[in-house]
Amino acid sequence: MTIRIDEPATGLASECEPILRALPDWFGIEQSIVQYVLDIEQLPTIIARDESGAAAGFMSIKQHFPQAAELHVLAVRAEHHRRGIGRAMLAKAEQWLATQGVHILQVKTLSPSRVCEAYERTRMFYEAMGFLPLEEFPKLWGERNPCLLMVKPLEAHGAPQSIRPAAIGARMRG
Ligand SMILES: CC(C)(COP(=O)(O)OP(=O)(O)OC[C@H]1O[C@@H](n2cnc3c(N)ncnc32)[C@H](O)[C@@H]1OP(=O)(O)O)[C@@H](O)C(=O)NCCC(=O)NCCS
Repeated sequence: MTIRIDEPATGLASECEPILRALPDWFGIEQSIVQYVLDIEQLPTIIARDESGAAAGFMSIKQHFPQAAELHVLAVRAEHHRRGIGRAMLAKAEQWLATQGVHILQVKTLSPSRVCEAYERTRMFYEAMGFLPLEEFPKLWGERNPCLLMVKPLEAHGAPQSIRPAAIGARMRG
């Protein structure tokens, strides 16, 4: 199967909502789905499309500060899991964010302190993609859904010279 990863765009909620609704093990709370759909419509969203042009997965990005962004919501259709689509969308997101000077990417997910096989797989994806656990927020989403904050430093593209790691290394060596 050939997958095309689109550039980030807004106004894509109607294509993404059916993907969320088809994953009740992850997105089972109606109020949250409704809020996600409103958010996706406004946020830059990367869509992965199959040969027919249908959406196989998506990733919406929220930029909180000039240097810091969040994977706000992401999902791949269950029949396409583990085929590299999540990895490909993240690569596109990182490329896009890095050119804008974003240095750090965060994602919030269910903490392992609540046992859930589905979210264990999600965390394995984030870990494989280089995200590190930073902090648990036990009550952010209510006591039944402890939140784990994970972060990933991004490679600097187009960052100011003074904060590029290579530039720091060069100064230290010099
Ligand atoms: C999480 C999700 C977006 C990942 O997308 P994906 O296309 O299935 O992931 P990829 O195939 O790109 O996986 C990349 C790597 O992550 C790791 N990984 C992904 N799924 C995994 C699993 N079920 N078990 C173990 N490792 C896994 C692997 O290292 C994998 O590389 P490999 O297949 O070469 O070993 C997708 O599984 C999904 O939609 N899950 C349900 C919704 C969800 O969890 N959304 C996030 C809510 S916070």
